[in-house]
Amino acid sequence: QISSVSLRRVLDSRGNPTVEADVLTESGGFGRAAAPSGASTGEYEAIELPANEAIANAREHAVPRLVDTVYAGDQRAVDGALRAADGTDNFSEIGANSAVAISMAAAKAGADVLGAPLYQHLGGAFRGDNFPIPLGNVIGGGEHAKDATDIQEFLAAPVGAPSVEEAVFANAKVHGEAGNILDERGIGAGKGDEGAWAPPISDAEAFEIMEEATSRVSEAVGFEIRFGLDVAATEMYDEDSDSYVYSDEEKSTDEQIEYMVDLVEEYDLAYVEDPLDENDYEAFAEITELVGDRTMICGDDLFVTNVSRLEEGIETGAGNSILIKPNQIGSLSDTFDAIELAVRNEYKTIISHRSGETEDTTIAHLAVATDADYIKTGTVAGERTAKLNELIRIAEDAV
Ligand code: PGA
Ligand code: ZN
Repeated sequence: QISSVSLRRVLDSRGNPTVEADVLTESGGFGRAAAPSGASTGEYEAIELPANEAIANAREHAVPRLVDTVYAGDQRAVDGALRAADGTDNFSEIGANSAVAISMAAAKAGADVLGAPLYQHLGGAFRGDNFPIPLGNVIGGGEHAKDATDIQEFLAAPVGAPSVEEAVFANAKVHGEAGNILDERGIGAGKGDEGAWAPPISDAEAFEIMEEATSRVSEAVGFEIRFGLDVAATEMYDEDSDSYVYSDEEKSTDEQIEYMVDLVEEYDLAYVEDPLDENDYEAFAEITELVGDRTMICGDDLFVTNVSRLEEGIETGAGNSILIKPNQIGSLSDTFDAIELAVRNEYKTIISHRSGETEDTTIAHLAVATDADYIKTGTVAGERTAKLNELIRIAEDAV
């Protein structure tokens, strides 16, 4: 049984306060986890409260329902207690940041009691032995960096990598090679929130650099490296003019679809996340139909890890893959439900970090536990390498 839950404010990678939870059990189990935080958040995400407020409300409402009542290893009971304590359907009372931190910390305490690694506790004995392919953010802008590209993320996708370790290092090499190409072109670049280069260049130039960097590294390492995008198009979409606003032009929905399909064809993109506005299932369905199976059309702001939004996507044929972010929905149980629904309907799953992160490595375990196809967790910043290095350790442990 859970004997205590303590909550504190810690720093995230943007320097903002976020919620960290410690869960202790009577039998001596211990788990610690921290909530991440988004910048290009979806309209339908669970609600992140200011850390102070989330902590105070969770202490008042959630902690008494957990302590001396619920087993840490009984994830459904933990998350049920969090839901009951909150009483809303979007965690706006105790905050999705408190909820997800407690939910993940309880899972770790449950694993600790069993003496099992977290991926084993969450995935069980019948987990498969696949490893997720890491998508690595190489160049970006959008909501993650000012005066950089319009498209938020250009991601390396080392689809041919023979092991998770080689995939992780390939992504780091692509990031390094993109830096070299920027140097060759005399372009200075800082970095965005996730550690991607944030140069003052057009999207067209970013495509050129990605193509060059991935092909150079692919040749060097001897396996296929494709690339993909997170367009985060909800942030570009302007409702009043019903158009997608780029630095130098505006596109109608039809033009946006055509542009995306052209990019997929020209660059053989492996992955396109949120190419359209989060409310436009119909346009998502159209683009999914047009690009075929070789390219993942992924819903992030569209689905927000939410079972009912994914159900609507399945009905309408919107997307063929889903981004999974536990803090978008607020608990691990809800996260698992979304993954299960996706897998049953042949949607690929991509477990993801947020732009504001901590050293917490829960998502690496979640990706392995659920046999996720991909994990999106940056490339070379410390809070990102924490997850990637954990994946390397898990791979070594699990073979
Ligand atoms: P966010 O960005 O964490 O700022 O929402 C990541 C993403 O959009 O995938
Ligand atoms: Zn996204």
